[in-house]
Amino acid sequence: MVIGGSGLIGTKLVNKLRQIGHEVVAASPSSGVNTITGEGLATALAGAQVVVDVANSPSWEDKAVLDFFETSGRNLLAAEAAAGVGHHIALSVVGTERLLASGYFRAKMAQETLIKASQVPYTIVRATQFFEFVGGIAQSATDGQTVRLSSALVQPIVSDDVAAALAEVTLGTPVNGTVELAGPEPIRLDELVRQFLSAHRDPRKVTTDVHALYFGIELNDQSLTPGDNPRIGPTRFEDWLSRSIPQK
Ligand SMILES: NC(=O)c1ccc[n+]([C@@H]2O[C@H](COP(=O)([O-])OP(=O)(O)OC[C@H]3O[C@@H](n4cnc5c(N)ncnc54)[C@H](OP(=O)(O)O)[C@@H]3O)[C@@H](O)[C@H]2O)c1
Repeated sequence: MVIGGSGLIGTKLVNKLRQIGHEVVAASPSSGVNTITGEGLATALAGAQVVVDVANSPSWEDKAVLDFFETSGRNLLAAEAAAGVGHHIALSVVGTERLLASGYFRAKMAQETLIKASQVPYTIVRATQFFEFVGGIAQSATDGQTVRLSSALVQPIVSDDVAAALAEVTLGTPVNGTVELAGPEPIRLDELVRQFLSAHRDPRKVTTDVHALYFGIELNDQSLTPGDNPRIGPTRFEDWLSRSIPQK
């Protein structure tokens, strides 16, 4: 069962698992399963062996996002324990414990803490920023025609490679720990966004500022990059960018 099965990662994961012959329930409020209210949860979980949680909070406001991941995590893990689910997998973010000045990452940390405290065997998969999120990073740092960004290192990954790695984890055994997932190349955040805007012929200009905040956090080269042995998704940003821009 994929919670958040209608989202960016969820849709791709559900398709991949179905393509290789697995029976998958794509669960989310739009299909009548809500981890906040509990609606539809027990019924959808009946017979499920593995649950992958790739849901996201509709609001990223500090209190709203914390309430979302705490309530959703509590309801989901309790329902899984009752249904005898053998493996809970959740998608989190590389560096979460270094990013707690941000309400979003405090909420992701709370989600991870609930998983570790529950009796359900688990694997936490921490991914770096998705290529598809780079436009959102630019937007969050925009003031008029200027995009003010740190030059900290990042190592982003495409959503297809995240979904492929999650499919493998889904078919494996629980590690009762955390695995990291990153793209093939480290790149500076300001440069990443510059490439993105230029490929989209977006007139905004990126200004480098080492103190610029990333969702409320001052970054360094370790903040968003993985540790020694991440799994690597093969797709290069440049290749994805040239494929994702409609050619004239
Ligand atoms: N963006 C990044 O760069 C990045 C990096 C690393 C990790 N992550 C993590 O990746 C995960 C997935 O992100 P995404 O971009 O694929 O998300 P997304 O496209 O925004 O999709 C969110 C999903 O959550 C579902 N959802 C919302 N409220 C729910 C509820 N009450 N009960 C059940 N499902 C609910 C939505 O269902 P409906 O469609 O029915 O509303 C949708 O399927 C997130 O947990 C995020 O923290 C993101």
